[in-house]
This record gives sequence, structure tokens and C-alpha cells, in this order.
Amino acid sequence: MKKIFFLILQTVLQLADSTSLRVIQPNVAVVDSDMQELSSFTVPLHCGEQYEGEQIHWEKNGKSILETGNRINVTINGLLGGNFTCHRPNRDFLNYTILLVHPVKFHKALLLKQSSSKEFVSCSARNYNGQFHCSWKWHHERTHKAVVYFAAIRNSSDLNCTLDSNISELTCIDKDYCPYSEEPLSINLTLLVRNMFRLEEHHRTFFIRDIVKPDKVGITKIQDNEFEWRPPQTWSFPCSFFPLSYEIKVVPRSHDCDYTGNRVEQNETNKTHYKVNSKKPYTFCIRAQDPLTKAVWSDWSHHHQKKHHHILEK
Ligand SMILES: *[C@@H]1O[C@H](CO)[C@@H](O)[C@H](O)[C@H]1NC(C)=O
Ligand SMILES: *[C@@H]1O[C@H](CO)[C@@H](O)[C@H](O)[C@H]1NC(C)=O
Ligand SMILES: *[C@@H]1O[C@H](CO)[C@@H](O)[C@H](O)[C@H]1NC(C)=O
Ligand SMILES: *[C@@H]1O[C@H](CO)[C@@H](O)[C@H](O)[C@H]1NC(C)=O
Ligand SMILES: *[C@@H]1O[C@H](CO)[C@@H](O)[C@H](O)[C@H]1NC(C)=O
Ligand SMILES: *[C@@H]1O[C@H](CO)[C@@H](O)[C@H](O)[C@H]1NC(C)=O
Ligand SMILES: *[C@@H]1O[C@H](CO)[C@@H](O)[C@H](O)[C@H]1NC(C)=O
Ligand SMILES: *[C@@H]1O[C@H](CO)[C@@H](O)[C@H](O)[C@H]1NC(C)=O
Ligand SMILES: *[C@@H]1O[C@H](CO)[C@@H](O)[C@H](O)[C@H]1NC(C)=O
Repeated sequence: MKKIFFLILQTVLQLADSTSLRVIQPNVAVVDSDMQELSSFTVPLHCGEQYEGEQIHWEKNGKSILETGNRINVTINGLLGGNFTCHRPNRDFLNYTILLVHPVKFHKALLLKQSSSKEFVSCSARNYNGQFHCSWKWHHERTHKAVVYFAAIRNSSDLNCTLDSNISELTCIDKDYCPYSEEPLSINLTLLVRNMFRLEEHHRTFFIRDIVKPDKVGITKIQDNEFEWRPPQTWSFPCSFFPLSYEIKVVPRSHDCDYTGNRVEQNETNKTHYKVNSKKPYTFCIRAQDPLTKAVWSDWSHHHQKKHHHILEK
């Protein structure tokens, strides 16, 4: 009994001793650390198969470290990963490993929660064409930020995603997406970001039908107090299959569309015209939503009406 106990204890200690690495890109490896306290742990590094038996020196972020040889174990303190390069004795560069630390239990700190959705990564689609966007905001103090890995997966296959040049947005296309049938499986989005050598993981799981947010409605004609509009140009057609319903709000002028209070005329319609009753100056607000999913409203479009005899035709 005692013997078995010690055998188990020994195994556990060994596991805790050398931390396993996750390779997420060529030359980029991650250590998941549960960081109960700012403990240190040991990580194995390897310069390359072809350098077996050679004299190898190592540097961390350009500064020599004591460990030598093709395979080394390095001790990482706290969250301080680094860029480990291996060299010949004459300092010729051979290879490198960027070692990132992922503090599993730390609150997320590289990206900011978006005020609109309370999520770090917010995803939306303009229509049912199979394309969607996921965007995020970096914490303003993160000046060494980078996206390390991203993937959107449905039914075990990778969707085609491209990262925006400002590394704050992904645009993905599911070319197999069929808007005319049910959407049985969700999309799983994974985003790995880093600042310096600290890594953060973000996951979202969603259906396209739940993230469809129509673009702003275009008001096309205003005559007296009668307003006309059409569905956003990016909306899916035909209209008979992809209906839109509209919310209308008439708020006192000088207030914005989110204003709630007295003297707000509010209405819903499936038509594309509306007559306002007010004789006072007002702001006409309109937004759209898919009435079948009732998922997300578009942003408001508005028009400030000064006098009530006013003609605008586009
Ligand atoms: C360089 O190191 C990486 C690990 O970071 C390893 O996957 C790769 O095979 C090495 N390259 C060579 C040429 O040995
Ligand atoms: C690194 O640590 C592992 C596991 O603790 C051990 O087996 C290995 O011999 C060590 N390598 C070196 C070069 O010290
Ligand atoms: C790590 O070091 C290698 C070799 O000097 C360099 O090519 C690479 O850009 C460095 N990467 C980072 C993130 O510091
Ligand atoms: C998921 O993929 C498998 C294998 O490609 C396929 O047989 C199955 O029909 C797919 N399921 C759905 C719901 O699309
Ligand atoms: C992925 O989408 C981009 C942008 O639309 C396109 O240029 C590229 O050819 C697509 N790649 C594949 C494999 O479909
Ligand atoms: C930068 O990213 C945001 C998403 O956060 C996107 O809306 C915007 O169009 C991007 N700008 C450029 C210039 O790529
Ligand atoms: C997608 O994510 C959910 C929740 O995180 C998980 O349960 C599911 O197994 C994932 N599916 C795939 C195909 O990765
Ligand atoms: C809402 O709109 C409908 C149709 O346009 C109209 O009949 C109704 O009077 C309106 N309700 C209010 C409170 O303005
Ligand atoms: C608009 O149409 C939807 C179905 O397309 C229906 O459920 C809803 O009651 C209609 N709303 C109005 C205000 O007519």
C-alpha cells in the first residue's frame, strides 16, 4: 500500500516538475500555468535534430543563459516567457523557440470586454451569405501585441478566415453554409493573442443565425412627415425569404435614438414607409431586425426633422 502511494506521489511530482509544451505554430510553444502563486517551473527546449552532440549555447531575449547543449531544461519564473535562441560557440544563430506563458486562472487582461456584448470577442454577420466578422479591442497598454493563432471550425472543418491588417478583426466565410436550411452545428472560434510573452485564449461558440445583424437602414425619401426606406443593400435577397421588420422611434429633437422618456412615439412595422404624427421638431429613428430569429437589431439610422414642411429625395 505504502509502496503504491509513493509510486503515485513520484509520478505526480515528475509531472509537476517538467511542464509539457504545446506547439501552436512553428517555433512558438505555450506553457499552460495554473499559477496558484508566482511559482517557477521547468520547461524542456530543443535546438534541432541535426545538432545532436554539438556544442550549443543558448540566449534568452538576446542575453546568454547558463544552460548548454542541444536539449536543455530552463526554469521560468512567474509569467516571464521569452525568445530562446540557440547558437554555435562562435554565436552563429541556429534556431529559436518563442516560449509563451498562458496563465490559465488569471483574469483576461490583453483584450477589453466590448460594451455592446460584454464579450471579449464579438461576432456578427450582415446577412445569410455565410460570411461573418469577429472583432476585438486591445487593452491600450498592450504595445507588443500579436495574434498567434486563429481558427473557426464547424463540423471539424476549418472555415476560411483572414486576419485584418490592424489585428483586431477576422473575416470568415463558410462556403458550405446554406441559408435555406436549418443550421444544425455551431461554429467554434478560437483566438490566441499575446503581448510580449504572455498568451491569452479566447473562445466563442455560435450559430450564424444568432449573430446576424442587419446593416443600417437607408432612408430613401422624406416628404412632409412621411418616411420611406429600403432594406440595407447588404441584406440577403429575396425579401420574401429574408424578411425584415423595423422599429421606429420618434424622439424630441436634440435627443439621440436611445432616448427613452415622455414624448417618444414608438412603433413596429413590416412595411417600408411610415407617417409621423408629431408637429414639433423631432428625430426620426429606424432600425431593422430579422423577425424570424429576433436575434440582433441593426444600429439606428436617423433623420433630424426641423420643420414639418421638408422635402428630401435621393
Ligand atoms: C527549430 O526549433 C523548432 C522548435 O521551436 C523545431 O520545431 C524545428 O524543427 C527546429 N528547426 C530546425 C531546423 O531544427
Ligand atoms: C530535463 O528534465 C527531464 C525531466 O525532468 C529529464 O528527464 C532530462 O534529463 C532533463 N534534461 C536535461 C538536459 O537536464
Ligand atoms: C525571436 O528571435 C528570432 C531570432 O533572433 C527572431 O527571428 C524572431 O523575430 C524573434 N521573435 C520574437 C517574437 O521576439
Ligand atoms: C459533418 O461532416 C460529416 C463528414 O464530412 C458529414 O457526413 C456530416 O453530414 C456533416 N454533418 C452536418 C450536420 O453537416
Ligand atoms: C479565402 O478567402 C479569401 C478572401 O475572400 C480568398 O482570397 C481565398 O482565396 C480563400 N481561400 C480559400 C482556400 O478558399
Ligand atoms: C480595424 O479593425 C476594426 C475592428 O475592430 C474594423 O472595424 C476596422 O475596419 C479595421 N480597420 C482597418 C483599417 O483595417
Ligand atoms: C465547440 O465548442 C463547444 C463548447 O466549447 C464544445 O463542447 C464542442 O465540442 C466544440 N466542438 C468542436 C467541433 O470543436
Ligand atoms: C403604429 O403604426 C401603425 C401602422 O403604421 C398605425 O396604424 C398605428 O397607429 C401606429 N401606432 C402608434 C402608437 O403610432
Ligand atoms: C411582421 O412579420 C412577422 C413575420 O414575418 C410577424 O411575426 C409580425 O407579427 C409582423 N409584425 C407586424 C408589426 O406586422
